[in-house]
Amino acid sequence: MKNRDFSLLLRPRRLRRSKAIRQLVAETSLDPGQFVLPVFVTEGHAQREPISTMPGQFRYSIDELLKLALEARDLGVRSFALFPQIEENKKDSFAKESTNPDGLLQRAVKELKNKLPDSCIITDVAMDPYSSDGHDGVVVKNQLGQSTNYLIDNDATLEILGAMALVQARAGADFVAPSDMMDGRVGHIRKILDADGFTDVGIISYAAKYASSFYGPFRDALGSAPKEGDKKTYQMDYRNQREALHEVRLDVAEGADIIMVKPALAYLDVISRVAANSPVPVAAYNVSGEYSMLKLAAQNGLIDESAGMLEILTAIARAGAKIIFTYHALEAARLLRR
Ligand code: PBG
Repeated sequence: MKNRDFSLLLRPRRLRRSKAIRQLVAETSLDPGQFVLPVFVTEGHAQREPISTMPGQFRYSIDELLKLALEARDLGVRSFALFPQIEENKKDSFAKESTNPDGLLQRAVKELKNKLPDSCIITDVAMDPYSSDGHDGVVVKNQLGQSTNYLIDNDATLEILGAMALVQARAGADFVAPSDMMDGRVGHIRKILDADGFTDVGIISYAAKYASSFYGPFRDALGSAPKEGDKKTYQMDYRNQREALHEVRLDVAEGADIIMVKPALAYLDVISRVAANSPVPVAAYNVSGEYSMLKLAAQNGLIDESAGMLEILTAIARAGAKIIFTYHALEAARLLRR
């Protein structure tokens, strides 16, 4: 067909003409090997308790976790971030249960490593699942006249985090992942691990973790919501970007092997800026609220779930995250296979 004369020399649509061409020029691709599947672990046997606020996600007893991990491996997902649901009567203000060598998380790590030695197991270092206060650090309350001053003691928390990380390393974790946002925790944990000979256990630092409303379903899944106050004195203010670079620099200097930005979707600018500046691999956490938003929108017929999922995950990768923590990991891996 002869063209009308629009004098258009440049026609970007040429590169979108066919699927083959689009694949040729695509700048971003996803691979199941870059996903980390977060898994909630609970006591008992043959348990797969549905989490009502996270359709498609469950709390798994250890035996069921092993089955899930095998299924994941067959889909090319080999990395897992484990989060234990601790019984209420085992919680206290110092998170003592977190350093129990036979605690739920430690048993889960051991059995998983046993069954799947080639998997990558990441454990969360923070007090909240074990804390009767529902905070990531030690709460200090001062009664000042009428009002209660609600503080988190940074350095007292470091001691607990160090002990927690060590117990997790002894159980067989490949990476410990401090998600607590206390100052100096990466350096402290590195020192403790090295002193005990765990020089090969890595640290994935939740370096730029924001105080976010998108953690709601996660706290629901673990029953770990703060009993009082919020997390704004330790997690970052979402108005800030420069501060993320500062946190990343500190964590890298303290020995972080991988750094993370969290949440992901409303923070793509932060991921992008951090990726441009970080000397170590960058991870992003596609958190519970982000997951559930898509699930509920899809259930209500508003968004095509598969397409939306791949679009979201690709956007996080495009922003610069090499590693993506996502509850969509298995479904996305299945889609990528096709
Ligand atoms: C706990 C922790 C949280 C998440 C991961 N580790 C919750 C919080 O900080 O309150 C959230 C993950 C998610 O929402 O999927 N330190």
